[in-house]
Amino acid sequence: MDKHRIPAADLGISRRLFLHGSAVMLGGGLLARPLLAATRGCQATAGDILGPYYRFGVPFQTRLAGPEEPGERLILTGTVYSSDCRSPVPGALIEVWQANSAGLYDTQKPGNFTDSGTFHLRGMLYTDEQGQYRIETVMPGRYPIPPNLPGLEKYAGMTRPAHIHFRVMESLHVPLTMQLYFKGDPFIAKDPWAGDKPANAIALEQDGKLRRGVFDFVLARGF
Ligand SMILES: [Fe+2]
Repeated sequence: MDKHRIPAADLGISRRLFLHGSAVMLGGGLLARPLLAATRGCQATAGDILGPYYRFGVPFQTRLAGPEEPGERLILTGTVYSSDCRSPVPGALIEVWQANSAGLYDTQKPGNFTDSGTFHLRGMLYTDEQGQYRIETVMPGRYPIPPNLPGLEKYAGMTRPAHIHFRVMESLHVPLTMQLYFKGDPFIAKDPWAGDKPANAIALEQDGKLRRGVFDFVLARGF
């Protein structure tokens, strides 16, 4: 037998081993991201109710509060990621709105989303090429749920934990509506919306007179 010729049986074995190895590699390649993601607890950001104080048509701005705005200054930064928790999403539209430090929104007409007039402590912005955003604002105040809100009547008078509302949209992803909470807020535990979303509460760092927080959004894929 030609010493350079490999027996068919050996070829078969080699081929099976090779294919097996490829499958493992392919499988490993295919599974690597989900497995890594799973070990990091990768999940799409949990959605939340829109709430009664959303308004259409707010100005494009990342600085929601000027220097005259009462309250503790807050800088929020972060990245919008795709569902793998690692691919940034540039050009995602972020809408943000919140109460002032006294717990008041710029409208006292709950549910009147198209109410025109002056916008305050609201803004729209796009994530940059790295999927990142930065918002300057103040810490929002807590507020009681007003009476007679359709669907929320049984919660009237309940104090909501401090929160900031967000809607995050990008054409290849499922739009996200959520509220960002702050760890240590004693009103989170009994809140019907914040209580079961611990991942949507962030810790804040004190930086002189500033407070800083980081939150990364993870959007589900639309397909
Ligand atoms: Fe709110």
